[in-house]
Amino acid sequence: MANTIAIGIQWGDEGKGKIVDLLAPRADVVARFQGGPNAGHTLVIGNEKTVLHLVPSGILHADTLCLIGNGTVVAPETIIEEMDTLIGAGIPVDERLRISDRCQLILPYHRALDAAREAAKGKGRIGTTGRGIGPAYEDKTARRGIRLIDMLSPGLDAKIAENLAWTNFQLTEYFKVDPVDRTEVDAVIEMARQRLLPLMADVALILHQRHKAGDTILFEGAQGTMLDVDFGTYPYVTSSNTVAGAALAGLGVGPGMVDEVLGICKAYTTRVGAGPFPTELYNADGMEDEAGRYMAEKGQEFGSTTGRPRRTGWFDAVVVRHAVRVAGVTGLAITKLDVLDGLPEVKLCVAYERDGERLETIPADAAALEACTPVYETLSGWSESTFGATSMAQLPAAAKAFLQRIEEVCECPVTMLSTGPDRGHIIHLDP
Ligand code: IMP
Repeated sequence: MANTIAIGIQWGDEGKGKIVDLLAPRADVVARFQGGPNAGHTLVIGNEKTVLHLVPSGILHADTLCLIGNGTVVAPETIIEEMDTLIGAGIPVDERLRISDRCQLILPYHRALDAAREAAKGKGRIGTTGRGIGPAYEDKTARRGIRLIDMLSPGLDAKIAENLAWTNFQLTEYFKVDPVDRTEVDAVIEMARQRLLPLMADVALILHQRHKAGDTILFEGAQGTMLDVDFGTYPYVTSSNTVAGAALAGLGVGPGMVDEVLGICKAYTTRVGAGPFPTELYNADGMEDEAGRYMAEKGQEFGSTTGRPRRTGWFDAVVVRHAVRVAGVTGLAITKLDVLDGLPEVKLCVAYERDGERLETIPADAAALEACTPVYETLSGWSESTFGATSMAQLPAAAKAFLQRIEEVCECPVTMLSTGPDRGHIIHLDP
């Protein structure tokens, strides 16, 4: 396998977990480079379903080293809970996982601030996952963040005191909510010291050494391009860059280490949280549409981190084309094709229209995007089942025509096609 960056190229929840899980056994190293416990992928260990938020899914494979890079934000309690679940299932996490010394920590006051801001915004809220992601990244860029290496610093106490004073000032004076108690923060710091310091490493150095030795690396992204802090639907985005370029800065490697960028997207579109979504058909707030409801129900569209129902809509090729461009995607992995089985027709959004003008690209302004209406191409649906198909020959002609049109309008070949939740439900295609 080539060194591959695997990223989501819609609004997250594209099925990255399954694709990464498929690719991980072929990689010597799996490395996370951005985001934090806002992400979530479900793994089946024994007969039990487990949602991992921070530990890369490669952790189940005996010969795979899992790395968490400097570009991520790590909540010590969350990762420790995941480690304990994995250890309980007999997985030697201590041997397989390393965390960057430069990682930023999410502390209880970040979550409190996230919650207070969202509550204060009321209807205008972003709909964050409530995991403290934004405030943790803010502290990083404001140069007051607490990194894993700081667990060894004699100045840590004073730094926390200063950060907590500032955050509590905002919580009590501006948001009029309770402050965060220092003992709560200290408990988390102590957990990080005891459990995370033994796993701390210079992740960039490990990657360079492994690459030099000829090992294969899989770079695992979280969220999706439309949630990227620069290229997504700002401000309705997450607080990190989610495009392929983030893999380099989020791990400390150069572009020469990357061979391919796999862009993962559903055969339709979903979104959780607020913000523009031009092809939206159906949501839990009362937007009704038969095809949209079909996708939501058949696709079991509920967030794995928050359990919130996802908004659903047709495949948006303007979004995917934008992602192909800004993330340098070399191949598409299309998931959940089978969810569309049984629909009499399927639609593809190929452009937008705003004030009588046709747009081929995403406007930078969220309000401008909100004002766009989709220009659709309607293709015939298929009544046959594609569920579990393992070769293109098994697909009905209408499904093939749909995929071919996606390739044309997104200007990118489809290299993988997922036709169900199991590992075996996959079609590999030559670009
Ligand atoms: P935050 O990352 O928790 O700050 O949330 C910001 C926005 O990104 C919200 O709309 C979230 O719903 C969305 N978001 C964050 N992580 C994910 C994810 O893993 N999947 C889907 N949406 C996400």
